[in-house]
Amino acid sequence: MKFFIDTADVKEIRAAWEMGCVDGVTTNPSLLAKVGRPLEETIREICSIVDGPISAEAVSLDAPGLIAEGRQLAKIHDNVVVKIPMGVEGMKAVKALTAVGIRTNVTLCFSANQALLCAKAGATYVSPFVGRLDDISQDGMELIADIISIFRNYDYRTQVLVASIRNPVHVLQSARLGADVATVPFSVIQQLSQHPLTDAGIAKFLKDWEKVPKK
Ligand code: G3P
Repeated sequence: MKFFIDTADVKEIRAAWEMGCVDGVTTNPSLLAKVGRPLEETIREICSIVDGPISAEAVSLDAPGLIAEGRQLAKIHDNVVVKIPMGVEGMKAVKALTAVGIRTNVTLCFSANQALLCAKAGATYVSPFVGRLDDISQDGMELIADIISIFRNYDYRTQVLVASIRNPVHVLQSARLGADVATVPFSVIQQLSQHPLTDAGIAKFLKDWEKVPKK
């Protein structure tokens, strides 16, 4: 499973990249607002840190606008993937951008039928939002299982990118199900590295090390 980091914060991206566990980055307007930086400048800097797919979101409400934005975003760097909101206009934009070789990531996917449309339109990635489904008492990971089994039935090439990940269990379940990508917030990447027995083990080794003759 590929690991993307879900943030527009370059400090977090640098730290995760140094850990060797980042294959790409996903951003969205909310994440950019959080760091208070313009889109193009931020995406350019991210591309200078991470050599992998970097999702930048288009925000137009109609297909011509999304296509024009997508073309502009794709010019920033070869690694840019254009994030397109799910919907009829979004599907038109995915088809058009795919036809000219621009990679897309369809965001705000909440059903298997939406994912099916993304695959038909030729999206590179589809991003089902598991945390937001959990928030409304629907099992987000059940949707991931459903989409993966449908895509396998027909050998669709669209990659399943698990988004809106909130905790380490989402990551574990994504890997168990065989998701192509999980996009993970930095705080969850840090949680993945932790275990109380690791901490206790390090403390004991350090204590015992004090008793070992040094010469
Ligand atoms: O990539 C989209 C994802 O970041 C949304 O996450 O936590 O805002 O539902 P969240």
